[in-house]
Amino acid sequence: MALGLLCLGLTLLGILQSQAQDTTPTLIPSPSLSKVPLQPDFQDDQFQGKWYIIGLAGSSFRKGRQSQYNMHRTIYKLNDDHSYNVTSTLLRGQNCDLQIRIFVPSVQPGQFTLGYLPQYVPGQSYTVRVVATNYKEFAMVFFETKFRNRVNFRTTLYGRTKELSPELKQRFVNFAKSLGLTDDNIIFPVPTEKCIDG
Ligand SMILES: *[C@@H]1O[C@H](CO)[C@@H](O)[C@H](O)[C@H]1NC(C)=O
Repeated sequence: MALGLLCLGLTLLGILQSQAQDTTPTLIPSPSLSKVPLQPDFQDDQFQGKWYIIGLAGSSFRKGRQSQYNMHRTIYKLNDDHSYNVTSTLLRGQNCDLQIRIFVPSVQPGQFTLGYLPQYVPGQSYTVRVVATNYKEFAMVFFETKFRNRVNFRTTLYGRTKELSPELKQRFVNFAKSLGLTDDNIIFPVPTEKCIDG
């Protein structure tokens, strides 16, 4: 039972956190959402399509384990009701893992919660906030998960291509640090051919 719950929990927390599950949890408090910037005048149709994960930051990430992180990609498909079907692929061993989520618009444009899928555990709250994007090149997105009293957060730097300029990477580092994270919590996954093309 406990193991079953743990597995469900890991599904919930997503591929990335589950990848980092055996790192020591730290006590970096999740920033108040009101302190996390939001892309003004968010255009959900322009945000659609494929994004490569160029950078990742969160209290559960450790730079020392960077070699274990392969680049993955996420595809956003807009539905008529303005929710997104979000499909992420990640190389794990020799396999491509697929994760499907639904992001439902929340209190303001650019902010989302998780739509219902049967595998989700009740009581979980999940917030996605598009911090900044120019749609055609990069995006920075903030994710917060709450389960019982535990709050976990992370942020990702998305690119339309597998590389982004040093300036954009630095901007992401600065943003991550504004959330209380340190260099040690920021990683840039290794580009790979597998799973992320197509
Ligand atoms: C999103 O997923 C649902 C359920 O699988 C499907 O019916 C719908 O067509 C998908 N929407 C898009 C835009 O692909």
